[in-house]
Amino acid sequence: MGLPYRTLIFPLLKGISSEKSHNISINILSKFGQNSIGKRILHSTYASPEEPIEVFDTLFKHPLGLAAGFDKGADALSSWSSLGFSWGEYGGITRFPQEGNPKPRMFRANKENALVNRMGLNNPGAMAIKDKLLIRKSSNNWPNIPVAANIGRSSKVSNENSPGDYSETLKILWDYADFFVLNVSSPNTPNLRELQGQTYLDSILQECNKIRKIDNEKKILLKLSPDRTNDQILDTLDVAIRNNIDGFVATNTTVKKPNPVNTQSRRVFSEEGGLSGRPLHNRSKEVIELIFNHTEGKIPIVGVGGIESSDTAWSSIISGASLLQLYSSLVFQGPSVVSSIVKGIKEKRIEKGFSNISEAVGYKHK
Ligand SMILES: Cc1cc2nc3c(=O)[nH]c(=O)nc-3n(C[C@H](O)[C@H](O)[C@H](O)COP(=O)(O)O)c2cc1C
Repeated sequence: MGLPYRTLIFPLLKGISSEKSHNISINILSKFGQNSIGKRILHSTYASPEEPIEVFDTLFKHPLGLAAGFDKGADALSSWSSLGFSWGEYGGITRFPQEGNPKPRMFRANKENALVNRMGLNNPGAMAIKDKLLIRKSSNNWPNIPVAANIGRSSKVSNENSPGDYSETLKILWDYADFFVLNVSSPNTPNLRELQGQTYLDSILQECNKIRKIDNEKKILLKLSPDRTNDQILDTLDVAIRNNIDGFVATNTTVKKPNPVNTQSRRVFSEEGGLSGRPLHNRSKEVIELIFNHTEGKIPIVGVGGIESSDTAWSSIISGASLLQLYSSLVFQGPSVVSSIVKGIKEKRIEKGFSNISEAVGYKHK
């Protein structure tokens, strides 16, 4: 199925706008996910091998999940595992519904395997998502893999009022995810990334910690920007650790654009927005290493940014990531990229003599 995607489907989708082709994919996936035959067809095509790892007191079938932003409206939850992912993250969700930025707002640089997007956290709002997920839960259609929710700040709420905005969304969605990612790193909501600074972050985490339920314990993670200096990132880590953060996600998209290789890329890179995909991988890995070293490997890291092959996945793992996510490579290579990466890391793990994948996490620093 990797071949038909690349030879038939991708060129077809390439001809229409990035966002339209994305919406078509989500539509197809949510339809497939609604019936067991559809799910079986996807599963038999894209199933991944097992490469189990325990993180956040949860057993993952393997480390690789779907990154935030792909299933923004939590519409295709049932298809995530059929595509081979062992977990997934829906959203970003905000307290209030919002349209996001005007279209077009998502662009593909085909030669670089990179995307530029300035979606602006378009989503139907926390209450609408909760209603949708309540129906899914009560009709026994909840996926049998871990589900994370990505939470952002509503664009109409100021940074000063952001603690209540994040914590309200967290409260509304508490029963509808296994763990939560606080997105303080999206470049597409003005001033949002300032929330990584100490003053705001302290209050956001304190408010969110009040929502935690003792009888229904769940983890809260923080997603970081690759664009801040290492010293700034270390300050953010300290604030988060002081507030009992359970994990870090490294990283969100970057506003730094590489030199384009051709005119098409030049056009795409001149668009305002965050860059993802292949050119992001090195910086994302640096941030993983920075966190791993600073926390002495004690706080789990989700590695995301330019994961597109077993080599990139493996290097993020040995840099310190326990779990991984991808988005852009799914667009360029199609769903077969998931099983091919998992197969590849399993082979590497065996070849290097590790008895399980956790032993390889952060191995580069040992
Ligand atoms: C179109 C698009 C929308 C995204 N939306 C979100 C979002 O809502 N919240 C978030 O934390 N990250 C979002 N991201 C960032 C991804 O989750 C991920 O961190 C980034 O794309 C790097 O991974 P990749 O190189 O595998 O794409 C988005 C990325 C893209 C391409």
